[in-house]
Amino acid sequence: MATPKKRSARKARSRSGTSARKPRARTTAPASASQLTACACVQDLEAIAKRRLSRAVYDYYAGGAEDEQTLTANREAFGRVFIRPRALVDVSRIDIATTALGTPIAMPVMVAPTAYQRMAHRDGELATARAAGEAGTIMVASTIATYSLEEIAKVATAPLWFQLYVQPDRSISRDLARRAEAAGYRALCLTVDTPQIGQRERDVRNQFALPRGIRMMNFEGNRSVMPRSSAGGSAFASYASSLLDPTLTWDAIAWLRGETKLPIVVKGIISGEDAALAVQAGAAAIVVSNHGGRQLDACEPTLAALPNVVEAAAGQVEVYLDGGVRRGTDVIKALALGARAVLVGRPVLWGLAAGGQAGVRRALEMLRAELVLAMTLAGCPSLRSLGPRTVVRA
Ligand code: FNR
Repeated sequence: MATPKKRSARKARSRSGTSARKPRARTTAPASASQLTACACVQDLEAIAKRRLSRAVYDYYAGGAEDEQTLTANREAFGRVFIRPRALVDVSRIDIATTALGTPIAMPVMVAPTAYQRMAHRDGELATARAAGEAGTIMVASTIATYSLEEIAKVATAPLWFQLYVQPDRSISRDLARRAEAAGYRALCLTVDTPQIGQRERDVRNQFALPRGIRMMNFEGNRSVMPRSSAGGSAFASYASSLLDPTLTWDAIAWLRGETKLPIVVKGIISGEDAALAVQAGAAAIVVSNHGGRQLDACEPTLAALPNVVEAAAGQVEVYLDGGVRRGTDVIKALALGARAVLVGRPVLWGLAAGGQAGVRRALEMLRAELVLAMTLAGCPSLRSLGPRTVVRA
């Protein structure tokens, strides 16, 4: 039996993350319906997810690059913006329905593409797609999903977009784009902040690799499996480099437009200059994103970057934002500063890990309810009533 001394040494080792652990997909039973109902906010779902996931998987989802400055700053940027409520407005009806690229969505909150969702729950992306459908919003499915884009499309009840990494072998990306189009996806979301994978130090320490049996189902054969890194460190980082093309430039958008009729959403824009280039290249929309703080650490937080991008886009394309959105009030702040909608990454993963489809449904439902309440209390009955005068920087 382990003595208290040994136990605490083991705990300390695991806190410092120095011992290599095999990631396990799940540790305890999913949260019950009443446990999900007892969650007051998406952070409560994270607490359940953290208990259920192995350390390596939790860290892969939660972590950011290097010192995680940007991960933290994305949240802090929301903390520096405050809402100026209006009084004595009729708020008996709050309308949060909108559209994204012409597609109606029930709320201005969409599901960001996140990889490897079967690590959170065996139903993975299928559960997320079903829950997004229940919430009446768009899910963006990742290139490195653990169900194929066709399997996801089969169960989806709301429109889907497909996130694309343009790979060194363009024929692979072209085939993915064509498959997405054939399966009924409504847009391609081209991620442009990832010429190489950021240094995610939690993954290095945990020697993160996909748990056995979990594969990247958009690919076949060897490409669907993440080999363990022979050099140590994060197997994901070594594998992902083979998926990414550091030579990619703005020409890629013209190339992709030649391969597909789908509109192209450029995800990962922070500067006004790049927003203007995206418009010029024929993008249909822009996502202001720093990959949830997982790529360039010390990158500007997204809420701070948003006004410049909105100005440069000059109303020619829709602008969305992701990174650190955890509250209905965050959605108001982003929309007031010019975003048409936001996307959420980790809140969905926490819901999925906590309780599969029901957990994702709960995450999206809490964000929706918070948004409606905040608009009620702010005297903003419709999304149109949100504008630069709704917020103030402190
Ligand atoms: C991501 N993100 C991401 N983006 C992308 O374009 N393709 C992908 O496969 C992934 N995978 C991925 C995995 C995990 C675990 C996370 C947390 C994020 C980035 C994602 O789309 C989004 O930009 C951020 O998650 C937004 O920040 P929040 O909402 O997680 O704070």
